[in-house]
Amino acid sequence: MAREKIKGNSGPLTGEITPPGDKSVSHRVLIIGSLASGTTEVSGFLNCEDTISTANAMRKLGAGIDINGSDVKITGKGLTGLSEPDDVIDAGNSGTTTRLLTGLLSAQGFFTAVTGDKYLRARPMKRVVDPLRLMGARITGREGGNRLPLAIEGGSLKGISYKLPVASAQVKSALILAGMYADGETEVVEPEPTRDHTERMLRHFGVNIEKNGNSIRITKQKEFAGRGISVPADISSAAFFIVGALITPGSELLIRNVGINPLRTGVIDVLRRMGGAIEIKNEREVSGEPVGDILVRASALRGTVIEGETIPKAIDELPVIAAAACFADGETVIRDARELRVKETDRIKAMTAELLKLGARVSEFDDGMSIKGGSPLTGAGCSSWGDHRIAMAVAIAATRASGETEIDGAECVSVSYPGFFEVLRGIQTD
Ligand code: S3P
Repeated sequence: MAREKIKGNSGPLTGEITPPGDKSVSHRVLIIGSLASGTTEVSGFLNCEDTISTANAMRKLGAGIDINGSDVKITGKGLTGLSEPDDVIDAGNSGTTTRLLTGLLSAQGFFTAVTGDKYLRARPMKRVVDPLRLMGARITGREGGNRLPLAIEGGSLKGISYKLPVASAQVKSALILAGMYADGETEVVEPEPTRDHTERMLRHFGVNIEKNGNSIRITKQKEFAGRGISVPADISSAAFFIVGALITPGSELLIRNVGINPLRTGVIDVLRRMGGAIEIKNEREVSGEPVGDILVRASALRGTVIEGETIPKAIDELPVIAAAACFADGETVIRDARELRVKETDRIKAMTAELLKLGARVSEFDDGMSIKGGSPLTGAGCSSWGDHRIAMAVAIAATRASGETEIDGAECVSVSYPGFFEVLRGIQTD
């Protein structure tokens, strides 16, 4: 197991970085590009363990996927051109691969089996299996279809109108993909708005998908053609360095070409509310997604309350926001975030445990946590819990602790950000 050493008392973070491509968008372009007819050329693709799981799955289903660093050439099979894989699809650690493909595969005229690593096999799948069964999907699996491995006997589906019990872009996207094949209309109603990359990308490919308030509607689709896509840098990866720069006196960091989809920028809203000096420059639209450059300067932070509609917009950034809160004046409270308990690990439990090891004043609630900022942190022996975002959030907190921190199981950063530790060391001054 790889152990990473983080030097405490970091000097300012300075210079410019462009984080790797957006993970959500990268998964989606592999799937949607494989369903297009003809070629889709992608630049800025995130080449990491999670997206390679999707690439391997789409290859098994017959699509041509040629990856060269961050450039990808996808040879699509057309909407009805996928074929039965001769083996189980292994989604590795990736919930997005599993849930989106469960929707897509439910509508294919063949059988597939899907599994994943021990973390993914422990995550709930009923949220996607239940509505797909209402559409007519034949899915079985452990615990009545709640846990991987799942067996999917694809076939014809009918459109439904479904109100999601939990805000989940993965479930919404699975139903949209299934809805592209279903008879009649499929409507998904969200309790709170979640990332809309699937909807935006389908529109970019010329697919008609309607949105009205919290309702998204799609009907059975005809063929659509491949096209070029440029993937912006991932705001979820940028978030670690945004927080790093805010909490480290003297920092000034420019983070270029970051996706600033308003359903993803909860982290910027929260950190600004905490007093963070974050400017967005050079706003533009690329391949249907808003993009900008983010300039961050070290700031005195104060505690805040994070709850309600903000939660889905900052869901993957809550661990690093908890790290930021350790350096804020006063208390930060995170509520309505029970979903964190079913991510790659239980992120409420993991962040509470790791921040406590560093000497922070943290307590855990069922649906969130409280962090009382301002007490100095001390380097310690920490764990990643096998979760990429826990490893990176702990690393950022540790840069401002006194003394050294060791993070066990740090290799999991490759799930979303290969090279994270090298980039961190590259922008740290002594
Ligand atoms: C994702 C949706 C979110 C997020 C995950 C990526 C996506 O999960 O946490 O990292 O790409 O659709 P949920 O849909 O479970 O909220």
